[in-house]
Amino acid sequence: MKRACTIEELHDSLPLTEHKTVLVPTMGALHEGHFSLIRKAREIAGPHGRVAVSIFVNPIQFDRESDLASYPCTLDKDLEACQKLGVDIVFTPEAESVYHPDRSITIHETSLSKLLCGATREGHFDGVCTVVAKLFNLFRPTDAVFGKKDYQQLAIIHRLVRDLNIPVTIHGAETVREEDGLALSSRNVRLTQLNREQAPIIREALVAARNAVDAGEKSADVVKSIALNTINAVSTIPRIDYLECVDAETLEAVESIDKLTLLATAVFFGDVRLIDNIELEPQ
Ligand code: PAJ
Repeated sequence: MKRACTIEELHDSLPLTEHKTVLVPTMGALHEGHFSLIRKAREIAGPHGRVAVSIFVNPIQFDRESDLASYPCTLDKDLEACQKLGVDIVFTPEAESVYHPDRSITIHETSLSKLLCGATREGHFDGVCTVVAKLFNLFRPTDAVFGKKDYQQLAIIHRLVRDLNIPVTIHGAETVREEDGLALSSRNVRLTQLNREQAPIIREALVAARNAVDAGEKSADVVKSIALNTINAVSTIPRIDYLECVDAETLEAVESIDKLTLLATAVFFGDVRLIDNIELEPQ
């Protein structure tokens, strides 16, 4: 495995190839969720292609300084895991080498990023789009893999490559979960013991809603109330940020489940905000 810490080193470690280059962008603190993306990337790349992983805590997608400062960093462990998973190249740049001090161009997404998580995270998805576009330019990958855990991010990246004609095929990977259903996230370690015990209720609520859809329910209001009632049964949860049935592509709210729909939610446990979602397919 090669490691590039600067853009120059990255260029030197990416000789031209006729085979696929599959990129998995991450911010590090890697867990099984990230590993599943890397395994998928290996499958897509095939035996002759290369798998590239970027580990970069992107400052411009954080709306709060304190979140950026407290973002976990486990670089040695991450590099070891990448090596074991057969990653060909890992890129671990410093922020100063990625962003010029007088940079003046940012990608601005005007539709999907206003909804769901975007409603309370001003500028977040512009920061994601900008760094992902830069990574695509730096690696020139044929393919890239993103998790469905961050479904809105995945939908926005699909838009990014469509609207800017970026020749990269985007793949979505299923969410990896703990045995009790909680979606893996670097934030889970910040949950108190009680909140950690309660948190799987999110998945239970989403599955209860999907079961109703599988049994023929079409009303988004009914589906949402099934999920809400399940979550609210855990009385100490202070706040549901959002819980919405949205079109899986445009992320706009739907009233009736007539095509592939996403039930997406963000719930605060203490000051830890957890997100999850489930795809609903009409019967
Ligand atoms: P990060 O949070 O490190 O996530 C990197 C990738 O791992 C994303 O595509 C995310 O959806 C995926 N992922 C996280 N948890 C997962 C889980 N439990 N199961 C499956 N996939 C999971 O998302 C980002 O970084 C950044 O916004 C980035 C795209 C790297 C741009 O900075």
